[in-house]
Amino acid sequence: MSKSKVLLVSLVVAAALVASASVVMAKPIVIKFSHVVAENTPKGQMANKFKQLVDERLGGKVLVEVFPNSQLFGDNKVLEAMLLGDVQLAAPSLSKFKKYTKSLQIYDLPFLFSNMGAVEKFQQGPEGQKLLMSIKSKGLIGLGYLHNGLKQLSASSPLRVPADAKSKKFRIMSSDVLAAQFEAVGAMPLKKPFSEVFTLLQTKAIDGQENTWSNIYSKKFYEVQPYITESNHGVLDYLVITSTEFWTGLPDAIRPQIKKALDEAIAFGNKVAAQKAIADRQKIIDSKRSEVLELTAAERQQWVDAMKPVWKKFEDQIGKNYIDAAIKSN
Ligand code: LMR
Repeated sequence: MSKSKVLLVSLVVAAALVASASVVMAKPIVIKFSHVVAENTPKGQMANKFKQLVDERLGGKVLVEVFPNSQLFGDNKVLEAMLLGDVQLAAPSLSKFKKYTKSLQIYDLPFLFSNMGAVEKFQQGPEGQKLLMSIKSKGLIGLGYLHNGLKQLSASSPLRVPADAKSKKFRIMSSDVLAAQFEAVGAMPLKKPFSEVFTLLQTKAIDGQENTWSNIYSKKFYEVQPYITESNHGVLDYLVITSTEFWTGLPDAIRPQIKKALDEAIAFGNKVAAQKAIADRQKIIDSKRSEVLELTAAERQQWVDAMKPVWKKFEDQIGKNYIDAAIKSN
């Protein structure tokens, strides 16, 4: 081959390489973030904040697509979808990991945490951090906790003492601890996806449910539940998760930037959670659609006494060391 031909071939090869590289570079990493709640909730706001931060900092390289309101996957499917690579980020409630680990059941124990400060303290301590990795053997990684808040009981009739809940049907998340909690007061728990709760309440297929102020407000449960007992009996928080395969497959230069954006979005979501626990409660009271019942100390103690035996029942599955650490965080 003549010198000029060699030069021409080299130029063509080089141009092809540049072209293919730019095609590769032009294709962004897509992160689908699927969740089940409304956008005006702590989790909805956190997801949107994460997208905004990634757009600003990694625009063109990483594309975040947020799917709220169970649009992409309901809470009974999202973990399987993640393992199949159909979704890359989610933040299911800590009550929805039954199939993947028993330790996370700690968060469902009734009356374990006295306030959200105690929850935060436990989560940031050594046991809470260890629990982030409790699903690792199943191919999932916990990237952080996100708060929603303490749960309240809503119902079609006033619930002041445990006897008021007897024989009533309550929707619960897919947790055996939550089932035991309602059975402890003689009620009938039904495991149902979040997306079905409003209709179940509206059609009176069930009598009540437990949730946070922001979920009761944003999903309009208060419009079909005339009574809400301010019980603060349990916590509803989230584990922000991804699959090990997706996370370890990210370029080393990108992964820390995504984690940083996520940490900032979580901090933002936690602020929203604290604000909404107060503001959405007040909006419900102001709506006059639902009466908010405050318990006397003696009434509340009856719920504690009735539900607390659940701790012992799940102690071996969860691990006593975790329960002791949680008690200490109060
Ligand atoms: C529920 O199912 O009640 C909650 O987990 C929904 C959510 O994600 O806040």
